[in-house]
Amino acid sequence: MRFEGSTDYVATPDLMLAVNAAITLQRPLLVKGEPGTGKTMLAETVAAALGLPLLQWHIKSTTKAQQGLYEYDAVSRLRDSQLGGEHGSRVHDIANYIVKGVLWQAFSAETPTVLLIDEVDKADIEFPNDLLRELDRMEFHVYETRELVKAKHRPIVFITSNNEKELPDAFLRRCFFHYIKFPDKETMQSIIDVHFPNIKKALIREALEVFFELREIPGLKKKPSTSELLDWLKLLMAEDIPPEALRAKDQKTAIPPLHGALLKNEQDVHLFERLVFMARQNR
Ligand SMILES: Nc1ncnc2c1ncn2[C@@H]1O[C@H](COP(=O)(O)OP(=O)(O)OP(=O)(O)O)[C@@H](O)[C@H]1O
Ligand SMILES: [Mg+2]
Repeated sequence: MRFEGSTDYVATPDLMLAVNAAITLQRPLLVKGEPGTGKTMLAETVAAALGLPLLQWHIKSTTKAQQGLYEYDAVSRLRDSQLGGEHGSRVHDIANYIVKGVLWQAFSAETPTVLLIDEVDKADIEFPNDLLRELDRMEFHVYETRELVKAKHRPIVFITSNNEKELPDAFLRRCFFHYIKFPDKETMQSIIDVHFPNIKKALIREALEVFFELREIPGLKKKPSTSELLDWLKLLMAEDIPPEALRAKDQKTAIPPLHGALLKNEQDVHLFERLVFMARQNR
């Protein structure tokens, strides 16, 4: 099994190398990178390219590792025992009340799967540590039924992080790591081509110029990323804004049209306006 890229996702050679290294090592691929640089989409793409089912587990601050394995639905069991009859007969088999989590589904699947554990850094600090054995040995115990669940096929695991928390060393040891570098102009051009094959070349040229200049501004609180550039281009096309309008160096259009797609807080907008203002005075 090898990942060779796909037609609707631009994977750089080093990214493909990392994916294949993780597959070879049979270790999770830990993917980091700025928001909007295609971490989540990578898992979707690899699943589609290899023709494997994708199982997704989106982590929140309240997510516990156990929820990925299974949950015991004690409330339903209590209700059934009170209802009696047909329901009552289910009560004696505790297995009826064990709800499979995403990991269990991946372990019990008849074919290999791609398992995405998205935004692992959102959970509390214990979360990654609680999954060490499961991800390493690909097995776990169900205490209620004394069953051992073992993976029929080791899933290909993707774990993404936005760096909100440090991950424990023991967890890192078990992963292969890849940082998605922010795309250079050329790569960005290919990403745009994938999304908008019919966009005017002149519009891309001007938009990329403005976009990369914007990212260079020192002190920006939130740099716009790939997905924001794509949003912006979509709007520029929808509003039929001519390429020249993006860099009107003259009077009024101080900052690019529809900048709300790129700059996400008022400090950054002010900063940008100030820079444009200063540049004009120096001229
Ligand atoms: N390499 C790429 N090829 C094609 N499209 C891309 C690429 N990178 C990003 N995109 C576009 O950017 C969007 C955002 O990507 P994605 O949701 O995977 O980002 P992310 O890194 O998971 O962000 P976050 O950290 O906020 O979850 C995608 O829907 C896709 O349209
Ligand atoms: Mg994501």
